[in-house]
Amino acid sequence: MRLLITGGAGFIGSNLARLALAQGHEVTVIDDLSTGFEENLTGLDVTFVRGSILDEVAMASSVRGADSVVHLAALGSVPRSIKDPVATHAANATGTLAVLEAARAADVSHVVVASSSSVYGLNPALPKSEREWVRPMSPYAVTKLATEQYPLAYQQSYGMSTLAFRFFNVYGPYQMAGHVYAAVIPTFVDALLRADVLAINGDGTTSRDFTYVGTVCAVLLDACVRRLSHPEPVNLAFGTNTTLLDLVRRIEVAAGLEAKVIHREPRPGDVKHSQADNTVLRSLFPQVRPVPLDQGLAETVAWFKETQ
Ligand SMILES: NC(=O)c1ccc[n+]([C@@H]2O[C@H](COP(=O)([O-])OP(=O)(O)OC[C@H]3O[C@@H](n4cnc5c(N)ncnc54)[C@H](O)[C@@H]3O)[C@@H](O)[C@H]2O)c1
Repeated sequence: MRLLITGGAGFIGSNLARLALAQGHEVTVIDDLSTGFEENLTGLDVTFVRGSILDEVAMASSVRGADSVVHLAALGSVPRSIKDPVATHAANATGTLAVLEAARAADVSHVVVASSSSVYGLNPALPKSEREWVRPMSPYAVTKLATEQYPLAYQQSYGMSTLAFRFFNVYGPYQMAGHVYAAVIPTFVDALLRADVLAINGDGTTSRDFTYVGTVCAVLLDACVRRLSHPEPVNLAFGTNTTLLDLVRRIEVAAGLEAKVIHREPRPGDVKHSQADNTVLRSLFPQVRPVPLDQGLAETVAWFKETQ
């Protein structure tokens, strides 16, 4: 299979490229390196196009001849979108439309996209089922609604096969710490290994459904191999809910170190609890076996130790 990964120099994309190559697939990556790193692809036999998904010429040449597209390119982070909603909209909403249009023009009829649990926003229901109402709390979440709804509409409008996943909190190797918009697990692991304080936003009872990147990539690749299409968004998480306090304890065990914890104000736009109903995921991917949190954290800590 020839796979195009947009945003393939980023965290999830580089893990997916590695897995796809290991399974004998051909991989092209388009990435403008706005938040990703070419070094994430070091040693991998991928065709790398340095360019934006918003660049029609770069997108057209990248998508030509692909069997499937996994569209991961986006500007992540709720706080970044609150600071600069226009840039987030361009990359995530307009960018998704650009990817779909390039695929359509090149007769590439299978596209998988990455939406986010943030679309549920103010909806307090737990766990979150895909049939629950959505109410984004941030510009980022609005752009992710566009990211999932455009490809679903393309099924109806153009007969394209598409699958829109709602990722929850994905973590694992190649997820960077040390920048202002870094996610919680790399931030905590990095701080602990450097003997810095771990700063929890809020009282630590905030909870998340953490999913190991290897599990996410296995599902993404399987979706492409089987050319799966589904008329509604699909939660890609396994229904766990780990509080930040519990997460810190588990990271301490994985690293064999004791953390110094401080608490800060909760961040605007962040939801308090997030947990997936995964009935639909399980029906589409009955074989999937998620990597347990403690195992995933051990892999993550090991990667940080190697790279620090
Ligand atoms: N990591 C998570 O927990 C999580 C949760 C929900 C949704 N998602 C979604 O999954 C996808 C991948 O996330 P990630 O964590 O790997 O993020 P990441 O920032 O590591 O990767 C995104 C990649 O997209 C690239 N990119 C951004 N704008 C681009 C553009 N205009 N043209 C080409 N490339 C561009 C970046 O350079 C980066 O390499 C994103 O769509 C994100 O919204 C991630």
